[in-house]
Amino acid sequence: MIKETEIKPLISEERLQTEIKKLADKFNKIYKNKEVYLICVLKGSVMFMADLAKHLNMPVKMEFIRLSSYGSGTTSSGKVNAVDIKLPDLNNKNVIIIEDIIDTGHTAKFLMDFLNHNFKFNDIKFCALLDKKCKRVANIEADYYCFEVDDKYLVGYGLDIDGNYRNLPYIGYIEV
Ligand code: IMP
Ligand code: MG
Repeated sequence: MIKETEIKPLISEERLQTEIKKLADKFNKIYKNKEVYLICVLKGSVMFMADLAKHLNMPVKMEFIRLSSYGSGTTSSGKVNAVDIKLPDLNNKNVIIIEDIIDTGHTAKFLMDFLNHNFKFNDIKFCALLDKKCKRVANIEADYYCFEVDDKYLVGYGLDIDGNYRNLPYIGYIEV
């Protein structure tokens, strides 16, 4: 297991919270008085979803799904597994997918295709805390994101290295 001293700070807790609050304010205007389903893509998005949701003031419902694309360590497998997708009837609903990070975009593409195949939404948007645009392979963009990041392996605030360090309140990177 890598040591916390090997994690170099990148985005402070304060910057995370400031940008998340701004995004929530934007959603509060866009979805004023409308019911919104937040779909949290576990496990990485758990912190982002919780902090964002606390600032929202429209009626909010929360759903949780699990996908995986990173096998172990820091290399992307490129293949996405639907580990657990159980959702209520989302036809005619307003949905915001909450993701920690878009990297190659395979996960986002898989999920959007899956959801659009199964439901006719009133509105669906893809929201990622972090966007590694330089790594994009799949043809997909986030509708909303808080930070564009370089091609570094990031940990903290939901993001893990072999299951560790999701609990950090900031985001850092490790040299791999
Ligand atoms: P994609 O399918 O390549 O876009 O990868 C998306 C998923 O890979 C994310 O939802 C994360 O769970 C994971 N991931 C991508 N980049 C990182 C990173 O730098 N640190 C930790 N997890 C990452
Ligand atoms: Mg994720």
